[in-house]
Amino acid sequence: MALRTLDTLPDRVGGSLAGTRVIVRCDLNVPLKDGVITDDGRVRASLPTLKSLIDQGARLVVCSHLGRPAGAPDPKYSLKPVAERLSELLGTPVAFAADTVGASAHEVVDGLGDGDVAVIENLRFNPGETSKDEVERDAFARELATLGDALVSDGFGVVHRKQASVYDLAQILPSVAGLLIATEVDVLDRLTENPERPYTVVLGGSKVSDKLGVIAHLLPRVDKLLVGGGMMFTFLAAQGHKVGASLLEQDQLDTVRGYMETARERGIELVLPVDAVVAASFAADADHVVADADALEDTAFGASGLGLDIGPRTAEVFAEAIRSSTTVFWNGPMGVFEMPAFAAGTKTVAQALTEVTGLSVVGGGDSAAAVRQLGFSDDSFGHISTGGGASLEFLEGKKLPGLEVLGWEQ
Ligand code: 3PG
Repeated sequence: MALRTLDTLPDRVGGSLAGTRVIVRCDLNVPLKDGVITDDGRVRASLPTLKSLIDQGARLVVCSHLGRPAGAPDPKYSLKPVAERLSELLGTPVAFAADTVGASAHEVVDGLGDGDVAVIENLRFNPGETSKDEVERDAFARELATLGDALVSDGFGVVHRKQASVYDLAQILPSVAGLLIATEVDVLDRLTENPERPYTVVLGGSKVSDKLGVIAHLLPRVDKLLVGGGMMFTFLAAQGHKVGASLLEQDQLDTVRGYMETARERGIELVLPVDAVVAASFAADADHVVADADALEDTAFGASGLGLDIGPRTAEVFAEAIRSSTTVFWNGPMGVFEMPAFAAGTKTVAQALTEVTGLSVVGGGDSAAAVRQLGFSDDSFGHISTGGGASLEFLEGKKLPGLEVLGWEQ
């Protein structure tokens, strides 16, 4: 079955959205520093759906989680700054309710006119949102349902969670997927079903153990798998190299050897780094040198040196593999990109993705943050996924409750 899409919503509520209270479940879980949003990508990604609903005269009740508060109000996780940013981006006033389903939410929603927008407070201030107890979750979903006549589910980043606003509410109200979810599903599906070849996947980030599912699922489907980031050292160690004090998941060595074997058997090119930037310590101003992958302990830092980025030769090899591919998916930074001395590998990979003539997809919270922090604009890439865990689980072939409930069958 296919996703129920936004264009079918009017028919589901009697023909027109004018005057209809539509709850829009977004993922507005943005990074904040001292109350200031440091990356508003998820707010911007929610705009097309919101604008479409505003244009149709719906009354919008926007809801989201932010962070992981402990089921009770916590000012640190208030959505207020996000509501303010949304208002700036939409260019219209956005009302804000100081609670989720209490007096403030009802008053704000009752005050909405056609085409008006309100944001209610962080859904996770209510323990029912994330409860494992179905009865408690359902009770919260039913309270939420009193705020609207229909649900547009558009928080792609949270579709892997069986939570009240994502899963239960979609079964109580007439519900469809928003435009963001539809786009994410369309693009990510193209990466798993018949991607145009050559197809290259670039994986980085710190831990192999976080990526096991995605490697296992994608490995048989790709032409090339490039491995960088902290996880590369477990691969290099599995090749028999010494990796000094670099990140190493000893308990994953056998799994990694298994991937190498699968790649060999199936003729998949598993491209591992040939050099790395090795530092004296984990610090932005640490002394550092470039070392070959088979000589990581042969620097002045000896066995206490730690690899914090792929080296320049590796970056060039990766860039060439990326540029010559028609479909590329990238998840996870190549090094500690937050520190300029160790950002070059991530930057070179990001730059190469912008030069892909087919489909280039950046997935995962860290990689999306990396490309923006390094100064790339969103539209230089085919798609930047708003999902971290959600996009990985999609690519692992897992069933995602927040999509299944909207009619999607993987
Ligand atoms: C994310 O940031 O990946 C989503 O917003 C989901 O957040 P969660 O991992 O706290 O459920």
